[in-house]
Amino acid sequence: MQTSTDIAARLGGQELRRIVYSEKDIAERVDIMGRAIGAHYPDDEPLLVIGLLKGSFIFLADLVRRIPRPLVVDFLGAASYGSATVSSGNVRLVYDPEAEIAGKHVLLVEDIIDSGNTVNRLVPKLRERGPRSLELCALLHKRLAPPLRLEPRWVGFEAPPEFLVGYGLDYSENYRGLPFIGSI
Ligand code: IMP
Ligand code: MG
Repeated sequence: MQTSTDIAARLGGQELRRIVYSEKDIAERVDIMGRAIGAHYPDDEPLLVIGLLKGSFIFLADLVRRIPRPLVVDFLGAASYGSATVSSGNVRLVYDPEAEIAGKHVLLVEDIIDSGNTVNRLVPKLRERGPRSLELCALLHKRLAPPLRLEPRWVGFEAPPEFLVGYGLDYSENYRGLPFIGSI
């Protein structure tokens, strides 16, 4: 098995500035978040967990395995970035969940909140469909955004104002497979 340091070394010091959250940091935090989420929802009420593609796919996969209760998983595809590291404010729906939202507790899972544009554009679209409740969970929050239409109830880490990659996060579609989160 490769260690984080091996992978970082292979990427080259120039590309990856530092490891911000190690695999262990992430696993510990995700475990705590999963248990908190599980405790929040009444056992007998349906929970639909919607991962925002693509960035949340690894976080979502780990998180749902740490939520000790029945749940259903779907995805929502929203693209807000091209290949730049600056938010465009333009959010396109590229995949719309097939699961019925009306009457369900919906938990939207986001990798990182930066400008808040993605969340602010998606929340009204989801609310229109009449969920029983709508909550947001973000692995990372840069706390740069003005008040959001929906503030995350669960946040993994208060992220530094740097461009982060790994654990699902990309830079021009690269680095998503890194098992840790680094800064470039
Ligand atoms: P927002 O719409 O500006 O809040 O940005 C949300 C989306 O932008 C996230 O779901 C990510 O896909 C992407 N993003 C924002 N900051 C970063 C970062 O530091 N690294 C990688 N992707 C980011
Ligand atoms: Mg992205």
